[in-house]
Amino acid sequence: MDAIEAIEKRRARRNFEERDVPKETVEELIRIASLAPSPYNSQPWHFIAVRDRLLVDEIQAAIRRQAARIWKMRPFLKLVLPSLRGERIREIIEKAPRQTIHRAPLFLLVCADDSWPNAEASCAYAVQNILIAATALGLGGTHIGGVSLINRDRRLISRLNVPNGFRVVDSLVLGFPRDTPATPPRKAVSEILSWR
Ligand SMILES: Cc1cc2nc3c(=O)[nH]c(=O)nc-3n(C[C@H](O)[C@H](O)[C@H](O)COP(=O)(O)O)c2cc1C
Repeated sequence: MDAIEAIEKRRARRNFEERDVPKETVEELIRIASLAPSPYNSQPWHFIAVRDRLLVDEIQAAIRRQAARIWKMRPFLKLVLPSLRGERIREIIEKAPRQTIHRAPLFLLVCADDSWPNAEASCAYAVQNILIAATALGLGGTHIGGVSLINRDRRLISRLNVPNGFRVVDSLVLGFPRDTPATPPRKAVSEILSWR
């Protein structure tokens, strides 16, 4: 499969077969992630592969708990905004209280080293490499939003062994997909491209 075909075939996959993703395949996906560009070749990323479903449930509960705490503070939201830097406020308020981590053989946490500029963006490029390579290998997955809320749970962060100076910025479920969803419609190129 060439790159363009893999990009076109990649879809958000949410239903998976029971079988595990082999450790070597996970390592290969992370190697391909590490080929992504980053400022000064800083490679400001770290990945935590979680196979323990109970731990995934704990992460889901932590996202919901933190979202509920923020929801309670909504009259004062403007005051707490600085401490929510980098988190998507709308996602937190509307979605995170019900956030569901789809049942998958693998849950991948993506952590950024904030001592580098644009570390979160670099992580996003690495994650896209993973999703495209996964497609080429017959795997699939999707992002799970709101996960940055778990940074507020120091106990969980230390259980997950998030390296010092890193912050959880994204997460993915991954596995062998059961179905092939249709491509959600995209904006026309004429709408998203302008020339000057
Ligand atoms: C930052 C981000 C967060 C997302 N969060 C979720 C999520 O929490 N749950 C989910 O099922 N899909 C999530 N998605 C997947 C999108 O819903 C999906 O990419 C979009 O609907 C377009 O579909 P496609 O990826 O199949 O082209 C997320 C995607 C991104 C980029």
